[in-house]
Amino acid sequence: MAEAYLSIFSGIGGLEHPKVAPLLYCERDEACQQVLSLTHPDVPICDDIRSLHSPPPADFVVGGWPCQDISSAGTLGGILGDRSGLFFEMLRTATAARAHTLIGENVPNLLTINNGRDFQTVIDTLVGAGYPFIGWRVLNARYFGLPQQRRRLFIVASSCRERAEAIHAALPESCSRGSKRDVYGFYWTGGKRSICFSRGYIPALKIGATDNKGRAPVAVMIDDHVRKLSARECLRLQGFDDLNHSHPRLAASTLLRMAGNAVPRPMGHFVLGAVTETAHFDGVREGFGLITEAGLYEDGWVWTINHAEPPLADNLHDFLDASSEQESLSSQAAAGLLVRSIRAEQPMPLQLYDLLFALASNREGKLWPSRANSFEALDALGDELSKYRAGLKPISDYQSAIEEEVE
Ligand SMILES: C[S@@+](CC[C@H](N)C(=O)[O-])C[C@H]1O[C@@H](n2cnc3c(N)ncnc32)[C@H](O)[C@@H]1O
Repeated sequence: MAEAYLSIFSGIGGLEHPKVAPLLYCERDEACQQVLSLTHPDVPICDDIRSLHSPPPADFVVGGWPCQDISSAGTLGGILGDRSGLFFEMLRTATAARAHTLIGENVPNLLTINNGRDFQTVIDTLVGAGYPFIGWRVLNARYFGLPQQRRRLFIVASSCRERAEAIHAALPESCSRGSKRDVYGFYWTGGKRSICFSRGYIPALKIGATDNKGRAPVAVMIDDHVRKLSARECLRLQGFDDLNHSHPRLAASTLLRMAGNAVPRPMGHFVLGAVTETAHFDGVREGFGLITEAGLYEDGWVWTINHAEPPLADNLHDFLDASSEQESLSSQAAAGLLVRSIRAEQPMPLQLYDLLFALASNREGKLWPSRANSFEALDALGDELSKYRAGLKPISDYQSAIEEEVE
């Protein structure tokens, strides 16, 4: 039986124990609250961490706090930013609840932003608040059988050495490899540095400017079909296979926002399971002094922890609905992606270029006035189109260009 915990910044409940519900949720978003109250109707929900002054006593306080000021795609205001600074509210809650352990989740960019000073602030503040043992580790959804390149940093701060060490437990053997068919994922919205075209998995789901309109930022290419992911597929790629069915009235844009924000469910289960059960330390202490992706702070020393790289899921095909159910990328979206990629000199595989070009050439049907200028911009590229195409490589030679721009 796991000990009692409070879930802060609960979202749709990705960071939870596999068998035990929290004593309390704290979540501001009304749609997320609806999901939480359907999943665990008996658990009370507080709607703002800043008003949670007398939390119930608990052993753990758990939460993935907002990353907008830390993410490399965000404001870079850092740990003292308005939203990412809510970390300090979570810490205040943990001490008020007299929790012996705090489990935090955020993007890996927290390790390096401001040349590491923000992470140093996090460690110093946790130690000062009575949590002298701190373990951290970057985990990837692909370690847990989900074909999504989503890397997240977990921090376990505790008054008990073994709890902090437990984040370095052995991973479950759950990885699925070997896709039945070649399926590719990429950002159709374009990326800052790359469209992250990848074979067998998708780049990280994220909350983009476009998803207010109910469109996922990620598209897939299956044979000669290019289409966006559906909200149901995005949730499945985060380990929430059932959510769309139990909440048929939530709009696609809401479901996509939830999916983009969530901790992948099997990842959350692993972390809470390991730390609440005080799982056995399974890393190797390699040396100290450097902040790396897996580490331990103990007795004033920082240890680098080495873990063997687990297999990475690449069975994207298993997570997709039959493509015949899904509409192609629109001609305007295809034109927009071509224009952005050519202007930014970001390559793509030749096959994708040809498919996008064919889509962009078919300009019939419903057109969005706001994006009609994608066609004008594409036509204005003239000779640049053939020059760009001549430099592209076939899929077999194309190097997958995953960059963690949404970290
Ligand atoms: C990164 S998401 C966490 C997602 C969650 N771990 C999951 O698996 O779905 C951060 C969450 O914090 C919530 N939030 C932001 N400010 C808050 C506040 N002041 N009080 C409570 N929740 C807040 C947001 O609505 C959002 O759902």
